[in-house]
Formats: sequence, C-alpha cells, structure tokens
Amino acid sequence: MEFKNQANPAQENLQETKECYQRWRCYLVPELKFNLLAVLYVMMFSHAVAYDPLDPTGNITIKWDVMSWTADGYVAAVTMNNFQMYRGIMSPGWTLGWNWAKKEVIWTMVGSQTTEQGDCSKFKGSVPHCCKRNPTVVDLLPGVPYNQQFSNCCKGGVLSGWAQDPSGSVSAVGVAGTSNKTVKLPKNFTLLGPGPGYTCGPAKIVPSTVFLTTDRRRKTQALMTWNVTCTYSQFLASKNPSCCVSFSSFYNDSITPCPSCACGCQNKKNCIRSDSKLLHRAGINTPKKDNTPLLQCTHHMCPIRVHWHVKLNYKDYWRVKVAITNFNYRMNYTQWSLVAQHPNLNNVTQVFSFDYKPLVPYESINDTGMFYGMKYYNDLLMEAGPQGNVQSELLMQKNKDTFTFKNGWAFPRKVYFNGDECKLPPPDTYPFLPNSAYAKPVAISTLAASLFLLVLAIW
Ligand SMILES: *[C@@H]1O[C@H](CO)[C@@H](O)[C@H](O)[C@H]1NC(C)=O
Ligand SMILES: *[C@@H]1O[C@H](CO)[C@@H](O)[C@H](O)[C@H]1NC(C)=O
Ligand SMILES: *[C@@H]1O[C@H](CO)[C@@H](O)[C@H](O)[C@H]1NC(C)=O
Ligand SMILES: *[C@@H]1O[C@H](CO)[C@@H](O)[C@H](O)[C@H]1NC(C)=O
Ligand SMILES: *[C@@H]1O[C@H](CO)[C@@H](O)[C@H](O)[C@H]1NC(C)=O
Ligand SMILES: *[C@@H]1O[C@H](CO)[C@@H](O)[C@H](O)[C@H]1NC(C)=O
Ligand SMILES: *[C@@H]1O[C@H](CO)[C@@H](O)[C@H](O)[C@H]1NC(C)=O
Ligand SMILES: *[C@@H]1O[C@H](CO)[C@@H](O)[C@H](O)[C@H]1NC(C)=O
Repeated sequence: MEFKNQANPAQENLQETKECYQRWRCYLVPELKFNLLAVLYVMMFSHAVAYDPLDPTGNITIKWDVMSWTADGYVAAVTMNNFQMYRGIMSPGWTLGWNWAKKEVIWTMVGSQTTEQGDCSKFKGSVPHCCKRNPTVVDLLPGVPYNQQFSNCCKGGVLSGWAQDPSGSVSAVGVAGTSNKTVKLPKNFTLLGPGPGYTCGPAKIVPSTVFLTTDRRRKTQALMTWNVTCTYSQFLASKNPSCCVSFSSFYNDSITPCPSCACGCQNKKNCIRSDSKLLHRAGINTPKKDNTPLLQCTHHMCPIRVHWHVKLNYKDYWRVKVAITNFNYRMNYTQWSLVAQHPNLNNVTQVFSFDYKPLVPYESINDTGMFYGMKYYNDLLMEAGPQGNVQSELLMQKNKDTFTFKNGWAFPRKVYFNGDECKLPPPDTYPFLPNSAYAKPVAISTLAASLFLLVLAIW
C-alpha cells in the first residue's frame, strides 16, 4: 500500500526518541516533548485568558494531520505536544474531548481510546469505535506510568501507541476522494490534565506537516493539518494556591512561617495529624481517582511547602538551602519542578543536589531559574511522612552593586511548584537583619571544605 511507504508521523517521533534519552529533553520544551499519537478513522462526516509571565508562550498543541481521504471520511494522525517550560504531565494523564461538527463517528482508533462507544445502533455489521457526538479520549500514553516516562518517555509513549497495530489500521484505508474543501473541523476542544485549568482555542488550519520517509531520503506531506492550542490558567485550575513558602536565615533565629490557611482551610476537617494512628492503616496512601489529597494537619494546609534558608555568607558568595516538603499522604510527585525568582539567580555558581536550568522567557528576565530532581536521587518527592521531602543548596556569586542581607533582599520574589505559584509570607515579615549584628563573611577555606563535604555527601 502506497501509504505504508510514505513516512508516517511515528517516524518523525522516532527521531525525537533519541533525544529523549538525554535527560529532560523529554520534559522541557522545546527540548522536552510529550507526544501522543492516535490514528482516527473518521467516517462521514472559548478563548484562553491564561497568561503566565514566566512562560508566556507555554501551551499544549494538538495537531491533526489528515493522512488520507477515504470515500466517506479521512484518516488522521493526532499528535499532542507539551510546549510548557515547567508544567509537566501528571498522573493519571490526559483526557481530551471535542464535539463533532456534523454526524461524524470514529471508525477505528489506535494508540488511545474513547471512554464510551455511544449509540452505534444505526450500524449493521462492523461497528464504529465511537458514535458519540462529543467523544472523550483517554489513555494517551497507554501503559506508561508517569514515573517511567522520564527515562523512557517518548519511546514508551509513541511506540506503544503505534505498536498496537499501526499497519492494521493503515491497510484498512483505501486511496479515496480528496476533499479538504468539505472537511469540517471538530469544535469545542477540552483538555483535562490531572485537574481543570486548560482552555483550548478553536482548531486552525495550518500549513501541512512535512514528514520524512522511513529512509529519510524523501519528504512527504500531510494532506491537511489543523492545530488546536490549549493554555493553562492557575486561576481556572483552583481558587487557592497549592503551595506556600517559609523563610529563615543564619542571622536571625526567627522563622517566618507559611501564612495561615495559605492554601485555604476548607480541608481542615479531614486532615490527619502526623502522629495519628490512622497513618498505620493499610491503604491510607492509596491515591484517589480524582486526586483528592489527604493532608497532614498544618496551619497553612498546603500540600507543598517550600522553605528558603539563607545559610551562609562568604566574601564573594552566599549560600541558600532550599527544602521542599510534601504534606499530602496520597501523592508522590515525580518529575517535580520548582521555579524561583530572585535577582541573584543570574549568578548561580553551583546547585548541589538538584538540577538547575535558567529560565529566560524574555531577554530582560534573567533572575529566574528552575530546579528539578536528579534522576534516581531525588526526582521523586515522596508522600507525606519521614521521606516526604527533598533539599538542596545553592551557591550564588554576589553582585557587588546589589547584594545585601537587608530588607529581606536574600529571599525569593516568587516561587512556583509544578507550575503553580506559591503563597509567600506577607511583605515585611522576613527575618530581619539585626541592627547591631554584622553578617560576617566566613573564610573561603571554609567554603572549599564545605563544598568538598557536600560533594562527598551526594555521591
Ligand atoms: C505555543 O508554544 C510554542 C512554543 O513555545 C510557540 O512557538 C507558539 O507560538 C505557541 N502558540 C500560541 C498560540 O501561543
Ligand atoms: C502546530 O502544532 C505543531 C506541534 O503540534 C507545531 O510544531 C506547529 O508549529 C503548530 N503550527 C502552528 C501554525 O501553530
Ligand atoms: C460549542 O460550544 C458552544 C458554546 O458552548 C455551543 O454554542 C456550540 O453549539 C458548540 N458546538 C458544537 C459543535 O457542539
Ligand atoms: C486542498 O487540496 C488542494 C489539492 O490537493 C491543495 O492545492 C490545497 O492547498 C489544499 N488546501 C488546504 C487548505 O489544505
Ligand atoms: C509512593 O512511592 C512509594 C515507593 O515507590 C510507594 O510505596 C507508595 O505507595 C507511593 N505512594 C503513593 C501515594 O503513591
Ligand atoms: C539582567 O536583566 C537586567 C534587567 O533587564 C539587566 O539590566 C542586566 O544587564 C541583565 N544581566 C545579565 C547578566 O544579562
Ligand atoms: C555574574 O558574575 C560574573 C562573574 O563574576 C560577573 O562578571 C557578572 O557581572 C555577574 N553578573 C551580575 C549581574 O552580577
Ligand atoms: C528577627 O526578625 C524578626 C522579624 O521576622 C524581628 O522581629 C526580630 O527583631 C529579629 N531579631 C533580631 C535579633 O533582630
């Protein structure tokens, strides 16, 4: 069959697969891609207000490539790409929905499936995969647990999607009528990640995707391509923050805690004290289908707390310790990410046990960076309990013109965990630099020694 010799979109993604072995290439975009491929055989045939200043063009794109026309419809390859810098894909994965413009049905589907077949009673003999006017598609990465996507992400997702029998569905297609004039684009796309928060725009016809053939010598083109862009809004996702920040320093004993009820106190009735006997009950950590948290009782009632401790002052450098604590008994965070904004992050010299990547959304922003776990070491932030925390230290070179411990300068301006902005303590509640005290730098030999110790501790 002619179609078989032509490149199919899987080929394109196989090339990406190689890159995915490199750490984070799969997770960070454009390096990191999250792909889903599905082949639909289709028969017969609100605008986002989201805006994230640190990732202004962040979005998820759903691309439909019509690969062939048939007598009564088309075959399309559907690809989803995550173009967000630091908002990952959480378990239990995506749910994608849309409305058909007319009376289309999905004849077959590879790489994913619809949740309901709908009423296909009109069909005698072979029955379509789904007859619903508003199909809902799930399992876009079949059989790939979230925590394995890291090492194996694109390969697992794309190949298992195609491996189900791509040639089978391809061979079912005849070389039928071409009709990019009569095709009706699906409408009202919806995308649910682990929760709400995404809004999708209308499908837009874009220049047809060009694919490389299997032997990479020839290029072929989709017959028609349309894109749908979905963006995330934290406000739509939830009214309350899902994390908070606390501060401390070496120059003042007082700790500035997370604000009370920083994440809303409506769950307070159902929280569990850290010494509760209930915690020994079997199944207490089992996640719920709808991801309802089971929180440890705290005054802030946040699932996540980020603590920023100003730890040491050297002559030319200063050191900060960052700790992230999980208070949710029902959630392991895999591939977590932490974004912080601080004027000295433009001169990070070393980050000890997290990986680090500066975020540069615009040329003028250079004070923001992303931290994430080291593979096999702390990329898993365990459920609440003794192991429910990860920590690291960072060493920054002082900028002589601006560096100071006064006025809370040493504390971050903004913090995001997994893409959601964390609630900071109110202004002017940071640990003050005592008037009399002078935050004396420690000698560089101490610095060298502690560097060495830390390296030993990590490896
Ligand atoms: C989606 O993200 C990509 C990559 O950042 C960007 O090039 C594109 O313009 C974005 N699309 C929209 C509609 O924002
Ligand atoms: C359509 O989406 C693909 C990725 O899914 C992207 O590479 C391409 O740039 C998009 N086209 C437009 C015009 O947004
Ligand atoms: C899409 O949604 C709008 C607004 O909710 C509705 O008026 C319209 O009928 C929907 N389109 C289809 C094809 O269902
Ligand atoms: C439709 O198909 C014709 C012929 O194949 C092509 O010239 C035209 O550019 C296509 N239009 C779109 C919108 O893809
Ligand atoms: C978290 O991971 C650990 C180790 O893999 C597992 O024993 C535990 O049940 C998981 N907890 C949750 C809430 O998924
Ligand atoms: C960082 O951004 C600031 C503000 O736009 C600019 O003045 C400064 O030169 C930049 N620094 C570097 C190292 O690029
Ligand atoms: C960052 O450190 C380098 C090396 O000392 C220095 O030249 C540069 O001016 C520093 N940048 C800022 C913005 O302080
Ligand atoms: C430490 O900081 C607090 C504010 O968080 C302030 O009230 C207190 O006076 C400071 N302690 C000293 C010794 O300055």
